[in-house]
Amino acid sequence: MKLVPIIEMLEDARKHRYAVGAFNIINLEMLRAIVSAAKSERSPVILQVWHGDLDLIGGSYAGAVAQVAAQESDLPIALQLDHGQNVEQVRTCIRWGFSSVMIDLSSASFVDNLEHTKEVVREAHAGNVSVEAELGRIYGGENPIETQTSALTEPERAVEFVGKTEIDALAVSVGTAHGEYLYGPVIDYDLLEQLIRVVRVPVVIHGGSYIKEEEIMRLINLGVAKINVGTGLMNTYVDGARDALGEHNGVRAQDIMRRAQAGVEKVVQKKIRLFVSLRTSSIRDSSS
Ligand code: 13P
Repeated sequence: MKLVPIIEMLEDARKHRYAVGAFNIINLEMLRAIVSAAKSERSPVILQVWHGDLDLIGGSYAGAVAQVAAQESDLPIALQLDHGQNVEQVRTCIRWGFSSVMIDLSSASFVDNLEHTKEVVREAHAGNVSVEAELGRIYGGENPIETQTSALTEPERAVEFVGKTEIDALAVSVGTAHGEYLYGPVIDYDLLEQLIRVVRVPVVIHGGSYIKEEEIMRLINLGVAKINVGTGLMNTYVDGARDALGEHNGVRAQDIMRRAQAGVEKVVQKKIRLFVSLRTSSIRDSSS
């Protein structure tokens, strides 16, 4: 298969009450760990590169390698830019072969967010690339609850934003946050339910690494179709490398990489199992 946009995957997820995991990568080991976990779970998967890591992994390399992973797979795989900052960055990622982009202008004014997102959608859709955007603000988990919940997504605005921009997925602020939670999360489930009811595109939850399992189930049960996981994988990678280093003095680079990769694969597998645990029917069943 080729890399695919996220639209069909998320529509299927929405229909069959499961969430597609979107996992951040910074190198080849992580990409391979995620793809391997998705294959063993017979599940579609979204690989993501956070905008600040594009120069680390090499965005063009990520595009090429993800393409190889997709070609070798009979399951849908997407490669998405995570929290894209501007139209130029989006354009570059599309040129590198990304099949989906997120544009995050949530800290700009509503009007600016809307106008620039519209421009991104026009360019991306012309190349069959899907677009996720953010409305309301998703903060870092190091912030107090008052900050984390200070710019929640307003349903009326969300309807207007989705209608006018024609995005494919909406990242919402309902109380989740990126990174490790020093406080919370305190999730506004009523608001989420309302957003899912009024917004016509699939809804995305960011900050999925350290949300408790029962809360994840509740999010999915309400209809969340995509959940982002990044920090937990980075931490697992470091733990694996540290374990390998601690074992003996003659440790080889390959041992460190293998250990880190195996740890990431395990975490991704566990997340995917959780994300699909309420599934009513599946791509997995139809493709196996
Ligand atoms: P975590 O920090 O919880 O892994 O969330 C990642 C994320 O939402 C990336 O956009």
